[in-house]
Amino acid sequence: MRRIHDTRNYHRHGRIDLMTEFTISESLCSADSLYSKALKLSSSYGEMVGRKLTEMSLLRPGCRICEVGGGYGSLMRGLLETHSPLIGQVLMIDLSGRLLKRQRECLKPWGSKVTFVHADISELIPSLRGVDLVILNEVIGDLDTWTDLSAGALPGEVAKFVCDYGLEIPEGDKIHFNIGALRLLEEICRKGSPAFISEHSSDPIIPPGMDYLARGLTPDGFPREIRLKDHTEYTIRFSHLMRVAEALGRKTRTGSLIEFLGIKETPGLRFIFTAQASAKDEQAIVLEFLDHVREYRWLIVSGD
Ligand SMILES: C[S@@+](CC[C@H](N)C(=O)[O-])C[C@H]1O[C@@H](n2cnc3c(N)ncnc32)[C@H](O)[C@@H]1O
Repeated sequence: MRRIHDTRNYHRHGRIDLMTEFTISESLCSADSLYSKALKLSSSYGEMVGRKLTEMSLLRPGCRICEVGGGYGSLMRGLLETHSPLIGQVLMIDLSGRLLKRQRECLKPWGSKVTFVHADISELIPSLRGVDLVILNEVIGDLDTWTDLSAGALPGEVAKFVCDYGLEIPEGDKIHFNIGALRLLEEICRKGSPAFISEHSSDPIIPPGMDYLARGLTPDGFPREIRLKDHTEYTIRFSHLMRVAEALGRKTRTGSLIEFLGIKETPGLRFIFTAQASAKDEQAIVLEFLDHVREYRWLIVSGD
């Protein structure tokens, strides 16, 4: 039966363990993490995000950044460790009181530069002001999702999004629709704030020369359920996000997270993935990470 899937109860009250969710930000929380070393990455994920934002002129002196759903605070720590002089103020918004506490601990070195707000972004977004950049890293898959819809009988709000933005919808009666993600992005675009988004996508981009990573994936797929410990999330249809942003006059840039992380095609990687074999612990780590990250995308929405 169709319904709106909602993770608020889990995030407000649950004992969230991001290691069981295998978030990219935590896996690459520093250059010394198990995954960074196995993949020979010399920067934390937060530093890489900072580099990309700088390249796109989105980290301007004194800028005010809002990170929603910052988890353990690792992305922001990596960003501040390497780009703090450019950043004026940081606002961390999270629905989980427990995670906000961890963020406070993690970001203590930056004192009053960082403030924390315990809130649901879906409720807070209309009143959010004075933000130069919004970061949403592995958050939008947690937001409201309509599930088990029939193409011929879409709920009014979904039908309106589909019609207003010309969104493609598959045939059938098991359709999931990322309504919370689209509502949030619509609001961010209307405010004119640039945004950096990364999430598990339903329409992944496979980096050039790494076609073997597409094995078993549906490249132009629609949201599917991902069952995690004590809750469920949905993959995100990035083409829908881009249509909404572009229809609202925003510019979009996107790509695979594999390329974003600087993971390059090598005969070694190809062998590990195609043979699905690992003779050493390090290879097992690389295989596990590649198999996970290959569906991830990043998206930057901005005014120019
Ligand atoms: C999967 S975790 C990702 C954490 C972190 N960004 C990372 O990449 O490791 C999702 C985060 O979003 C927060 N969250 C989920 N729903 C939210 C909502 N409606 N409003 C604000 N935060 C929310 C969770 O508490 C958690 O911090």
